[in-house]
Amino acid sequence: MPLKRPISVWSEVTPKRVYLNRRRFMAGAMLAAAAHRLIAGARLNVALKSPFSTSEPQTSLDVITHYNNFYEFGTDKAQPANLARDFKTSPWTVSVEGAVSKPRTFDLDMLMKLAPLEERIYRHRCVEGWSIVVPWIGFPLNALIKQVEPLSSAKFVAFQSSFDHRQMPQAQWAGIAFPYVEGLRIDEAVHPLTLLAVGLYGEALPNQDGAPIRLVVPWKYGFKSIKSIVKIRFVEQQPPTTWNLATPREYGFYSNVNPTVDHPRWSQAKERRLGEFFKRPTLMFNGYGDQVASLYAGMDLRKNY
Ligand code: MTE
Repeated sequence: MPLKRPISVWSEVTPKRVYLNRRRFMAGAMLAAAAHRLIAGARLNVALKSPFSTSEPQTSLDVITHYNNFYEFGTDKAQPANLARDFKTSPWTVSVEGAVSKPRTFDLDMLMKLAPLEERIYRHRCVEGWSIVVPWIGFPLNALIKQVEPLSSAKFVAFQSSFDHRQMPQAQWAGIAFPYVEGLRIDEAVHPLTLLAVGLYGEALPNQDGAPIRLVVPWKYGFKSIKSIVKIRFVEQQPPTTWNLATPREYGFYSNVNPTVDHPRWSQAKERRLGEFFKRPTLMFNGYGDQVASLYAGMDLRKNY
């Protein structure tokens, strides 16, 4: 699909000078308050640069914010940038519940205090055959998991996105069930690569990229990286996942990036990095095999696709 001419993201209705001044003022005010606020476009202070980051060239902000899969806001890649513009992301809470000793509801301020914010430049491979490189800002999911103390019976973690049909009228045409749900095995969830992202390119997440908080699991196909999370539940049984419910033959629970296992309708051997012309080979576990292959030792990854 051809990319539409990018529009500047947060400055459309306000003249650029006014908007820049306002941004500067807001940044100053926020520093004075010595707290991170998750307002679209707010600058985030990154405390750590992650050793897990790739040095590959980063995909432009325009592409990252105008070529999105976010079916609640339309199935066309260009739609979420427009249709998620007024999505209300504040106030916001994430309820963490299920098989844990200390179930809790976190608001954004609490979430932002769980761990120092890190920049993580990750490859992101969509099951459709394209890929991007994103400078995420976030903290390990594990920092949140430690707070609630999972019971030994918790074997999986189930995630749920926000769903509000009044704010997401396009969702009725998407052909999948909402709220969007995803899941990880507990060892995948506590893995240091698994990130809760709250920003990208130095600023709070744009709505179309899953504001105010989304999951990023870089060794799995992009659809595991669930957006705009409102609920995290620790469970004993493997939880349902949106794309597996929609087409079980095509999408399994694990969804590890795997160039040797084709999608029933297309090959997964190659990918097109957005912005590049020639396709490149897709790497096993999206290039994160050194860190994650041991999680799947002894598993048949053809059966567990
Ligand atoms: N989360 C929700 N709630 N709804 C969605 O439609 N799409 C998934 C995933 N998370 C999706 C979602 C898919 S298919 C992909 S490839 C990534 O988000 C896209 O993330 P991006 O738009 O930030 O690149």
